[in-house]
Order: sequence, then C-alpha cells, then structure tokens
Amino acid sequence: MLPVTLDRNRGEPLPAQLAAQIRALVLAGTLGTGDRLPSSRALAADLGVSRAVTEHAFDQLTAEGWLEARRGSGTYVAAAHTSGATVPEATSRSTRVTSPRFARSLPRSARVTSRLDTGTPFFDPRLEPGWRRAWREVSATTPPRGYDDPRGLPELREALAARLGRSRGLDVRSDEIIVTAGTTDGLRALLPELRRGPVAVEDPGYRAAAESVRIFGREVIDLPAVETVCDLGDAVAAYVTPAHQHPLGRVMPAADRLALIDAARRAEAVVIEDDYDSEFRYDVAPVPAMATLDRDRVAYLGTAAKSVVPTLRLGWLVAPPDLHERVLSRRTITHSGAAWPSQRALLTLLRDGWLDRAVRSARRVYAERAPRVAEAMSPYATLAGPLAGMYSTWLLPEPAAVRARDAARTAGFEINLLSDYARASGLTGLVIGFGGVSDAELDAALAAVTAALVRT
Ligand SMILES: Cc1ncc(COP(=O)(O)O)c(C=O)c1O
Repeated sequence: MLPVTLDRNRGEPLPAQLAAQIRALVLAGTLGTGDRLPSSRALAADLGVSRAVTEHAFDQLTAEGWLEARRGSGTYVAAAHTSGATVPEATSRSTRVTSPRFARSLPRSARVTSRLDTGTPFFDPRLEPGWRRAWREVSATTPPRGYDDPRGLPELREALAARLGRSRGLDVRSDEIIVTAGTTDGLRALLPELRRGPVAVEDPGYRAAAESVRIFGREVIDLPAVETVCDLGDAVAAYVTPAHQHPLGRVMPAADRLALIDAARRAEAVVIEDDYDSEFRYDVAPVPAMATLDRDRVAYLGTAAKSVVPTLRLGWLVAPPDLHERVLSRRTITHSGAAWPSQRALLTLLRDGWLDRAVRSARRVYAERAPRVAEAMSPYATLAGPLAGMYSTWLLPEPAAVRARDAARTAGFEINLLSDYARASGLTGLVIGFGGVSDAELDAALAAVTAALVRT
C-alpha cells in the first residue's frame, strides 16, 4: 500500500492531495523508475475514496510525465522524473505519511486547545465497538423512500417514550413525541407557534436559547435564574432549566416550580423546560421533569447532546396538545425533521442498552472529577450550585475570572466566563467543564487557573 494519507478537512481537493503526495514519493526516491503503482481501483479501496479520485490523480500525473500507463499492464513511474538521489534525507522522511487506516486523530486545527466547556461530554472509549455496531446497522438498513413521519421514526419514539417514563417520570405516548435535531431545533419549532410577545429566558442562561428568541424577532426578558418567579408580566413563554440551572447549577425547588407554572397559567404563557443533563446527578436520583406537574402548560425539550454526543443533532419535544398540533403541521409542510441516519443509530443505541451504559460510565467519571474541581477551586471562589452534571460554576470578581481564563488559555485550555452567560444579572466567575478533557488535562488546567487566583 502506498504511504499516503488524504485529509477531507483540508480545503484542497482529494485528487490534488493524492497527486501531490505521489509526486513527493517519486521525488524522494520512495517510488523509483519502473515501479508499478497499485491499480486505481485497489488504491481507491485502500484510501477509502471513490475510484474517480485515484483515476483523476493518475491522469494528472501521467499528463505531467511523472507516471506512464502501459497498456494492459498498469501504471508505472516514468523514467525521466526519478531523482531520489538529489533529495535530502530529511525531506524524504518528512514526506512519509501514515496510512489513513491508522490516522484516526482529529485534524490539527481541532487539537490546538482543550475545551473545558459545558458542551463536550465524556465518551468512554470502551463503548466504541457498540457505537460502530449501531452505525453498521444503519448502513445495512434501507431508509424510508420519501419524507417520513414528521414526528420522527416510530420505533425511536416508542423507545424514547419508554425511557422518558422510566427516567423522567413522564408518562407519554410515542405519538406525543416529536423527534427534533436537538434542543435548539425544538425551541425554534415552538417559537413561531407562540402568541406575539416577549419570551422570558433565565439570566444567566443558555445563550443559544436567548439568541434563538432574538432571531425570531422576539424580545428577551431576563428571568432571574435563582429566584422564585411569581409573575411573568407580558411574556408568552418562560425558558428554564429546572433540573440543573444552566449555568449556575441550582435545582429548581418544587415550590418554585409550582409558582412558575401558576404564573404561566395566569399569563397564559407556556413554560419551556430544557432538560439537558438531568441524568447526571451523582448523589441522588434525577429530579422528575417539571412537565410531570402540568402537561398542558409545560413544553418539554430533551437532547442526546449530553448522553451521546452533540454532533448527533438529536433531541425530542413533548409539547402541550395545541402546540404539538401546530408544530407538527408546520414541520410537515416545511419537511423539518431530524435526519434519518441519526435517528436510526439512536434507536440501536437505546435498544442495545448502549445509552444506559454511556450515561452510567460518564456519571462515574463526572462524580470523580467534580470533587477534584471543587477541591482545587474552593479556596479561591464560591460554588454557585450543587455538584452535578459535567461542569461547575464558580463565583469570582470579573477581573480575577478574566485573569484565570487568560492563564488557562496561555496553558492551552479554553474556559468560559460566567459573564458570557449573564445579561442583567451581572454575575461573574468561571464555568468549568470537565467532560471533554482527560484527567491530566483537567489537573493542568486547574493548576493554571488557581495559580492566577488569590486565596480568599
Ligand atoms: C442548557 C443547554 N441546553 C441544551 C443543550 C443542547 O442543545 P442541542 O440539543 O441543541 O445540542 C446544551 C448544550 O450544551 C445546553 O447547555
């Protein structure tokens, strides 16, 4: 096999990349005059590209005189250009690249910094075989021929309904679920169906939610994230994260849940419950979903972003009946729905018990890391909420938080400021995610952060 590797993330077309690397191999003497190249079909199979890519590269190099095609026999390195002896040894070695089969790591640009963010969950490498099995099953399954059920794959909705009942106390039928392309897609489906008027979003709160509200031309009202809300004013909806307030971490107490639902009833508004990471309580069982209290008043949004990966782009919406009907008819007309391959893969992951294993193993990792973060940070800052999920939030004066963020950045780690999530509340500090890094990276990041802080 030729020692070449192609990178789909580079802007350069694959045939041009392949031609450049074969040229380099000839120049380096790795390929000598008269050497026979693999057939375009075999090379394409080895590299995992279409035959058009290899044929295109061979044609180009033949046209340039590097290669020659011998009728009925194959493609060979042409005589005139073989000049390996003139190429310095170092250059020769630097052109050697590994086979794509073993080049699994991310492109360099994605590895520059490690992100200690709230959006990168732990992915247990021991679960990779199950993950690959699910996708093999997708590839072996015939997709629906036309636009399918706008609510999403029926078998997936069945599995989700069972899971919501089991883990979130939500007693739903599968036809009450709409599979979405994630929480934000669910929110964007709801927004055009609401009465005219502003939408209250927690402050500090999920930036994607506030931004989505604005995109739909609605005013964002700041909903204090840790206070009892008894009045929604003229808001037509309130977007909240009751199981684990994002990013302060508080669990909304039962009395506050009831007060908010009551306020929504009086304002004829809907509560939009973003239940993004409730599986990740380490001390107690997850708090039941707020939607269990009033299914006619609360629209429930779930996501696979934390329990699987955000790039799957899958979530689920259980809306009050009138909203459900309106969302569904608009999604039918606009062909908005989650991509079938992702839905089919999630179905297998649920059926195989993969998702339960993934949640258990991530929960174990978070339960071990959260106290490590707390031990490092507590001499310098105040914890904003109980330890849960894959991040913790630390209150600090803004200058100290910025100093710590900058020190982390210099050490190669990206950490978010609490002020990035705050609007009128003006809360400041650091939001430290610990799902997407290794233990060693976490320790190094914490060392950088705490070195920039002063003990209180
Ligand atoms: C508060 C909150 N909700 C929801 C999500 C997931 O959104 P989506 O399902 O659109 O990826 C995230 C992801 O980071 C989040 O932080």
